[in-house]
Amino acid sequence: MTAFTALMPIGDALRQLRGALREADIPDPGIDARILLEEAAQCDATALARDPQAPLGAEAARKLSSWLPRRLAGEPVGRILGYREFFGLRFDLAPATLEPRADTEALVELALRQPASRRPGARFLDLGTGSGCILLALLHACPDARGVGADRALGALVAARANAHALGLSERAAFVGANWMDPFREAAADAAFETDYGFDLIVSNPPYIPSATIATLDREVAGFDPRLALDGGADGLDPYWAICDAASRLLRRGGVLALEHGHDQEREVRRIAEEAGLEFVDSMHDLGGILRAQAFTPRSTADDAASD
Ligand SMILES: C[S@@+](CC[C@H](N)C(=O)[O-])C[C@H]1O[C@@H](n2cnc3c(N)ncnc32)[C@H](O)[C@@H]1O
Repeated sequence: MTAFTALMPIGDALRQLRGALREADIPDPGIDARILLEEAAQCDATALARDPQAPLGAEAARKLSSWLPRRLAGEPVGRILGYREFFGLRFDLAPATLEPRADTEALVELALRQPASRRPGARFLDLGTGSGCILLALLHACPDARGVGADRALGALVAARANAHALGLSERAAFVGANWMDPFREAAADAAFETDYGFDLIVSNPPYIPSATIATLDREVAGFDPRLALDGGADGLDPYWAICDAASRLLRRGGVLALEHGHDQEREVRRIAEEAGLEFVDSMHDLGGILRAQAFTPRSTADDAASD
């Protein structure tokens, strides 16, 4: 049984944490132990290395005593701390938000290398915004852009707005409740839509797990991420139909739709986009070497060619 006390040296606390996590077969016990200790004791790696004999302190001992059993029960570190780093920025989490994943940084990188994202005054739309991590990372990288994040989960919108505020981006980011494209579809019927409201970039990391697979996922995912953020319908592809269907009418000319998808969904997502009148322009692999995100643009028509 691991017990943390105020007078325990921080170096000993780190070893105890690591040992307990390793014994319970928690993946990456060294990394998790270090993150938990540094957050509880409000110290960094340098302070830890310089003075491992420094006492832990009462508050840190109390936090570690409550956090370790939660981690041993499978709760992810980000959920325990209540925040997660994404694209070098901090995002606070809520029960209604997915915990942002490192894989999703590939989608942000893909979006940022599209010329459409660099247009002066560019407008972005992030569908299924969750914590707001994708939209806010894009706005942080593109100081001249503004954007809308949409989600069906109201709790996610509250969290996304708070994250925008904390990052100093709330003047350029709006968040709206929406079932995918529904509110935008009607606006797109207006002839002035493309110039007045159309988007240069639409991004989405929609739920893409087939419904029946969710129960088989690791407890760290199935037990802590909201089902609405995971469940993509019978084959995991329902959201792609909803998103691609309206994207070509919502994008300004030369605009781009960038989508994250599962490791085995590359061909299906491309087929859905092509059936919706979009053509493939680019893709990006994640850090594990898996093709994780694809970008599309509306297929040019004879009318477009004539007006060029
Ligand atoms: C995989 S999560 C992605 C969250 C965030 N963008 C990220 O990458 O961390 C999918 C998001 O889609 C939202 N969502 C699910 N169904 C939706 C719908 N019908 N309309 C809008 N958003 C939806 C979920 O609430 C969730 O926030």
